[in-house]
Amino acid sequence: MAALIITVVALGLAAPGLIRAQDAAAEDPLAGLGAEDVAAGKVLYEGHCAACHAPDGSGGRGASLAHPQLRRAADNRALVRVIRSGIRGTEMPATWQMSEREILRVAAYVRTLGRKRAESLPGDAARGRRLYVSNGCSGCHIVRGEGAGAGPELTDVGARRNAAYLRESLIAPDKAVPERFLLVTAATADGRRIEGVRLNEDPFTIQIRDGANRFHSLRKLELAELKRLPGRTTMPAYAHLPPADIEDLVAYLASLRGEP
Ligand code: HEC
Ligand code: HEC
Repeated sequence: MAALIITVVALGLAAPGLIRAQDAAAEDPLAGLGAEDVAAGKVLYEGHCAACHAPDGSGGRGASLAHPQLRRAADNRALVRVIRSGIRGTEMPATWQMSEREILRVAAYVRTLGRKRAESLPGDAARGRRLYVSNGCSGCHIVRGEGAGAGPELTDVGARRNAAYLRESLIAPDKAVPERFLLVTAATADGRRIEGVRLNEDPFTIQIRDGANRFHSLRKLELAELKRLPGRTTMPAYAHLPPADIEDLVAYLASLRGEP
């Protein structure tokens, strides 16, 4: 029960958590679906999900779904809910183009992806952890409460991203900058220039965290210039590292699957 409540809270549905958790235990929404539904689900998956989760579920921009145990979809009810409502605060969208029946079918197909084996990686995760420290990654990333946070938290990055994406993050980090880390540059009327990650924006103000981790809240009307720099990032490229180091770092990152 406790685990279910935590799942529900993590999905942002905290208030009626207990009731929902009891619901969740009640019945399996995918019971009774057959091979025909799974086949229909595969077609839906290819049209609606594969762009982010890859045709074989190995992930990319989206999380890897090729695991028997999904972090945010511990049971089939939670899985259906994630597909229907998305995951707030992440790039996982709610679906509005699919009927309830189609949602069940795509969920049934997602479960078949989990029966395949997880990726096996050539790198050495223990050595990767030492490289992570010696290359100063923790100056910008938090893992299980350690480090500083100008970049995304990496505590569960191995569950969210597949190895190919992680490798690319290190070699060419400007290739896939998450929307939440859009880099902006602002010039104030008195000639100051502030460059950093956009934390928040509304029609009148913008909040920026600069490279030195300082927080700026600016009124747009008072700015001389405001530029968005899509595809740019403060994450340095590590393409100069030996390939073996990259593989070890990838193995370490892939092993980060949440709090132990
Ligand atoms: C625009 C990209 C995008 C699309 C399209 C998308 N997803 Fe996702 N999905 C994500 C991301 C990113 C996450 C990881 C969110 C997080 O936890 O940070 C995710 C997470 C999930 C999870 C939870 C995984 C876990 O480990 O618990 C499931 C299940 C899922 N998606 C299924 C689907 C299905 C099924 C579809 C199609 C109907 C779909 N997604 C479409 C980006 C996407
Ligand atoms: C100067 C700050 C900085 C340093 C140092 C840094 N990063 Fe990053 N990192 C970022 C920022 C900002 C992002 C988000 C934008 C992007 O994807 O480029 C990011 C993104 C990432 C991502 C993708 C996360 C996701 O969910 O998409 C990974 C993986 C990553 N970094 C790993 C590392 C590793 C490993 C190192 C050390 C070898 C490192 N970073 C060093 C700032 C940094």
